[in-house]
Amino acid sequence: MATKCFGILTAGGDCPGLNAAIRGVGRPLMDVYQAEFIGFRDGFRGLIENRVTRFADGSLSGILTIGGTILGTSRDKLHRMTVGGEEMDMTEVAVENYQKQHLDALICLGGGGTQKNALRLAERGLNIVTLPKTIDNDVAKTDVTFGFDTAMAVAAEAIDRLHSTAESHHRVILVEIMGHNAGWLALSAGIAGGADVILIPEIPFSVQAVANALIQRNRRGKRFSIVAMAEGAHPKPDGKEEKGKKKDKKKKESKKANAESPEETVDMSLVGGENCARLAHRLQDITGLEMRVTSLGHLQRGGTPSPADRLLATRFGTVCAQLVHDGQFGVMVGLQGNECVAVPLDEVAGNRKTVPLDHPWLETARLVGTSLGDEQ
Ligand code: F6P
Repeated sequence: MATKCFGILTAGGDCPGLNAAIRGVGRPLMDVYQAEFIGFRDGFRGLIENRVTRFADGSLSGILTIGGTILGTSRDKLHRMTVGGEEMDMTEVAVENYQKQHLDALICLGGGGTQKNALRLAERGLNIVTLPKTIDNDVAKTDVTFGFDTAMAVAAEAIDRLHSTAESHHRVILVEIMGHNAGWLALSAGIAGGADVILIPEIPFSVQAVANALIQRNRRGKRFSIVAMAEGAHPKPDGKEEKGKKKDKKKKESKKANAESPEETVDMSLVGGENCARLAHRLQDITGLEMRVTSLGHLQRGGTPSPADRLLATRFGTVCAQLVHDGQFGVMVGLQGNECVAVPLDEVAGNRKTVPLDHPWLETARLVGTSLGDEQ
C-alpha cells in the first residue's frame, strides 16, 4: 500500500499550544500510521506558494512547550489574497498545490477565518480536518479553543500585578484585554483576577453605570479599582453621543498629535488601548478619580502554553490524526463536555461563539459584586 501523505498549516493569529497540536497530529501520523507529514509555511500563504517543511523522525521533539508556531502564520483569506499588489482569488492555486504534493488530507489549525478558508477547500473536494485555536475562545461548536487558557492566565496575572500598584496610588486602572468581538477572555480573567468592573462586547455598557460603581467603591473606603475591559467592549447604543464623540475626538486627537510633532504621527491602532483610554478620560471627568490605562496586547498571545492548553492541543491533535487516518474529513475536532467530537465544518465556519447573556459566569461575576457596566 502506498505511503499516505498528510499536510498541516497554522493560520490566523498565533497562540500558545499550536506546536503542541502540530506534535499531537504528527507523532501518531508518522510513528503509528507510518505516513509522511509535511507542513506549509506561513498559513494559507505557504499553501499557495507551495512552501513546505518535510518533517522527519525526531523533528517534532522539543516543541511541546514552545509558544507561537514553528510553521509561521499569516492572516490571508484564500478568496481575497494580495498577490503582487493585487487582490486575487487563490483558491484554485491552493487546490493545485494540494494535488502537487499528493496529499491525502490537509489539516488546518486556526480560528474563525481559518475555518472559513478550510470550508472553501473542502467544498472544492479536498480532504480537510481543522482544529480550533485562538486566545479569543470564539470558535463555534467547541466549548473551548486551545490558547485560551494560557491567555487567561497571563491576563489574570496582569490584573493581580495591577492591583497592588492601583492600591498603593489610590488609582483606577483600566486594563484592556484582547478577545476580538467576544468577551470570554476579559470575563474569565476579570473574574479570576477579581476585577471590580468587567466590560465585554456582549453587554454594551453605560459610562455612568461604570462611574457609579467606582464612586460607590470609593465611598465604601476602597480607594482603588480595576476595570477589565475587552477590546471589543462598547457603550450602549442609546448613548448616540458616544459614537459621535468617538469620531470627533479621534479626529481631534490625531490632528493635535500631528500639529504638535508633524514628523511623529502615531497610529494608535498599532499601540492598542484607544477605547480604554477614551473611557478612562470620561470616567476621570465624571468621578474625579485618578485613572491609568494598561493595554496587554500581544503579551497575551506569547510564551509557553499552560499545561491545560498543552493537554487540549495534544488531545485534539491525536484525535485529528485518527480521523484523517480513518478517512473522516470535512470536520473540525472540538471539545463538548469532556469529549473530543468531530463537528461538520459547515456548522462551524461563519459562526462566532460569543458569551451568551445567560452564561453562568456573568451571574458569578455579579454575585461577587463585580459591575458589568449595565446597572440602571
Ligand atoms: O484573534 C486573536 C487576536 O489576538 C484578537 O484577540 C485580536 O483582536 C487580534 O488577534 C489581533 O490581531 P493582530 O495580531 O493581527 O494584531
